[in-house]
Amino acid sequence: MTSYLVDIIAGARPNFVKIAPIIRAVKEQQNSGGRIRYRLVHTGQHYDAQMSVDFFIQLGIPEPDINLGVGSGTQAEQTAAIMINYEKLLHKTPSNLCLVVGDVTSTMACAITAQKLQIPVAHVEAGIRSGDWSMPEEINRMVTDSITNYFFTTSETANEHLRRTSVESSRIFFVGNTMIDSLLNNMERLIPPSFWNEFKLEIGEYFVLTLHRPCNVDTIDIFKKMLLTIGEQTRNLPVIFPVHPRTAKTLSCIHGLPENIRFVEPQSYLEFNYLVKNAKAVITDSGGITEECTVMNVPCMTLRNSTERPETVTIGTNELIGTDPANLQLALDKLFSGGWKVGSTPEKWDGKTGKRIVSVLEKLII
Ligand code: UD1
Repeated sequence: MTSYLVDIIAGARPNFVKIAPIIRAVKEQQNSGGRIRYRLVHTGQHYDAQMSVDFFIQLGIPEPDINLGVGSGTQAEQTAAIMINYEKLLHKTPSNLCLVVGDVTSTMACAITAQKLQIPVAHVEAGIRSGDWSMPEEINRMVTDSITNYFFTTSETANEHLRRTSVESSRIFFVGNTMIDSLLNNMERLIPPSFWNEFKLEIGEYFVLTLHRPCNVDTIDIFKKMLLTIGEQTRNLPVIFPVHPRTAKTLSCIHGLPENIRFVEPQSYLEFNYLVKNAKAVITDSGGITEECTVMNVPCMTLRNSTERPETVTIGTNELIGTDPANLQLALDKLFSGGWKVGSTPEKWDGKTGKRIVSVLEKLII
């Protein structure tokens, strides 16, 4: 019986959360005599312990088989370095399938490299679109989906986007959300961060803030105005802000910020989601966090004009506030008066997505 080697690609923090349940399901399949083998390829896009290794440990992801070690750079530099290094690997030891997740630079770079060597590509979280071409992630999604063979989707909206670009239904697999598999698997393991007592945090009496999009944090004036408004409008409750490395660079040039904003290191998975689960609300420009808020029923305010995850707004607890922080006031008034909507969980976000993906893969290789 010949085995079937799947490269599982991960490069940046949100990827690690999405691959953990897939690896677990592949291993279960192996243990029951299945033919699928995997090779975990870390591109090295995120390399700080807090952005990478800590996630591997907490999520029980095995050591990568390969680390392409690309590190930081511009979008083009990172893309090029990942493609060159992954191509070398595939020339030396080809795989049968390249499985990419999400929308980061590593996702697109590895998909292009594999497809050019005629290795089929599977994309997990395919078909979502923000329509905003100023976000590198949107370009990554569009390019990746244009050369994907097998599309694993999180929503009916994503299926519809793909069908509109003439993808045959037989190549679209609506499996649910692996990021939510990780969350549900770890819900009982969440732990308070080390500063919980020091900051005197109380359940439901603080905010969580995350900002890292270039349009929000790369310009000092825009970023400062945003922080001042957030500090003013959160009625003296603590605002816990785990600072992403990109954000830290701009932050080091800004002074005179509100005292209720507490800047902390990037948190690992179990601590971060403990903070979210128990927060009064989350203010963010992330996409994945809006999904986690939806499942944990935590009010979420997104400082963006668009979302590729509309179900977090239509079904979940998320609202799009836009990038003008002045808009926050109305949203916070609604929150403090107890009028925030109660969400429900989107279809198939049930913790079984990793298994569904592997059972599709098993059928594909017969
Ligand atoms: C990437 C993803 C984004 C995702 C985010 C989550 C792309 C296009 N963007 O953005 O979708 O939401 O990850 O974290 O792939 N840096 C470090 N240490 C690290 C990693 C990065 O210091 O471990 C620095 C880099 O030097 C760079 C900056 O952080 O200056 C940004 O890193 P990069 O990987 O380019 O993109 P992110 O903004 O993290």
